[in-house]
Amino acid sequence: MLKVDISNVWGDLSLSDMLAAEPEVFSAHKTLAEGRGEGSDFLGWLNLPTFEQTEELRRIQRAAKQIRADSDIFVVIGIGGSYLGPRAAIELVKGQNHNLKDADPQIFFAGNNLSTRAWQELCELLEGKDFSINIISKSGTTTEPAIATRALRWMLERKYGAEKAKKRIYVTTDPANGALRRMAQDEGYESFVIPPDVGGRYSVLTAVGLLPMAVAGISPMDVMLGAARAKKELDLRSFENPAWQYATMRNLLYRRKKSIELLCCYEPRFRYFAGWWQQLFGESEGKDGKGIFPATAEFTADLHSLGQMIQQGERNIFETVLRFSPPQKKTLIDGDWKNLDGLNYLEGKSLDFVEEQAFLGTLSAHVDGGVPVIILQADDIDADTLGELFYFFELSCGISAYMLGVNPFNQPGVEFYKKNMFQLLGKPGY
Ligand code: PA5
Repeated sequence: MLKVDISNVWGDLSLSDMLAAEPEVFSAHKTLAEGRGEGSDFLGWLNLPTFEQTEELRRIQRAAKQIRADSDIFVVIGIGGSYLGPRAAIELVKGQNHNLKDADPQIFFAGNNLSTRAWQELCELLEGKDFSINIISKSGTTTEPAIATRALRWMLERKYGAEKAKKRIYVTTDPANGALRRMAQDEGYESFVIPPDVGGRYSVLTAVGLLPMAVAGISPMDVMLGAARAKKELDLRSFENPAWQYATMRNLLYRRKKSIELLCCYEPRFRYFAGWWQQLFGESEGKDGKGIFPATAEFTADLHSLGQMIQQGERNIFETVLRFSPPQKKTLIDGDWKNLDGLNYLEGKSLDFVEEQAFLGTLSAHVDGGVPVIILQADDIDADTLGELFYFFELSCGISAYMLGVNPFNQPGVEFYKKNMFQLLGKPGY
C-alpha cells in the first residue's frame, strides 16, 4: 500500500497543526463520499474501480486484441482528461521508449495540439502502415481532437475504403449526447462509454484510459484491481489514511504561503503521469482566486536546471516526491583499472544505490533550504500500482479541493480561451 512520509514538513508545521485539521479533513471526505458538496453530479469516478470483470472490460479487451492483431500503429485522439491519463499509464508502465519495442503496436497521440509540424510528422509515420484510431472526447465537440478526427477518418477511408475503415475506428464518449456519439451511431463505429457523472480528468479508469492501456499490453483488470484495493484501503476516516495526510499537509502548507507544489520523481517514465497529476490538481483547485500551483520536476535531470531555484529562490515551494520500490534487477557499476574518470569509488555499487543517495542528499538539502517535503512511497511500477496511484490522487484531490473551499469538478476558466479563439475563427454563434 502507498505510504506517506510527512516527517520532513515538521519545520514548517507541527503535529498539533495536523491534528487541529482533523475535523476539516473529516468533513471534506464525508462531503465527497456522501455527494453533498459542490459538483456532486460528477462523483461517478469514486465507484469505477471494480474487483469484477464487467462487460465493458471484456469489450475493451476484445477490441484491444483486434487492434493488436491488425494494426502497426494505434492513434489515440484526445486532449486534457481525454489524453493525459492514457499517455501517463502507457509511459509509466511500458517506458518512454515503448514505441521502439517490437512486441506491441506503436501508439501515437493526436488531437492534443494545433501544431502543423506535429500533424505532418504523424502523417509521415502513418505512411505505409496499418493503423486504427481511438477518438476520445466526452463532449465530442472539442476543437483539437475534432480536427484530427476529421483528417484521420478520411485517411482511413482513403486507405481501406469506407466499410473497412469503420472497423478501425473506436470511439470513447458520452453514452447518449454529443457529436461523437451521433457519429458513432450513424457510422456504426465500435464505441465505449464515459459515464455522464465522470469528468474528463477523473476518467482514466474508464475506457478513456483502459482501451489504450490494453492495446499497449497493460491488463485493464490489473489496473482496476489496484484501484479497487486503493478504494477499499483509502476509505479510512483517520490520519492513517494516506489521502488524508496528503490532502491535509498540502492545504496546511498552502496556508503558510507555500503556493507551489513541485511533484518530483526520479523516474523519467513518470513524466506524463506528472502531467496527468498536474491537470487533475490544476483544473480541480485553481479557481476563485485560490489554488496551489501544480508544478513538476524530473530528478536528477531537473536538479541541474531547477535545483538552484528550489534551493535558494523564493521560499514559496513545497515538494511531493514520489518514490517507487527499488528495481528488482540491479545494474552494477564496473571498475576501470585506469580510473581516468575517478569513479572507482563506486565500483560494484548498484545504480539504484547511487540514485537512493542522490534522493537522500537532495532531500536533506531541500529541507535545510526551507522546502518542506512530503514523500509518497509506492510499490514497484506495474499495472496494480498504477491503478492505486490513479485512485489515490483522485481521492486526495477531491478531499483537498473541498478543504480549500472550491468545486473540484468544474473548469469554468478553460472556456475563456476557446471563446476568443472561436470569435477569431468565425465559428457560428460566437
Ligand atoms: O478535465 C476535463 O474535463 C477537461 O480537461 C477535458 O477532458 C478536456 O477539455 C477535453 O474534453 P473532451 O473530452 O470533452 O474533448
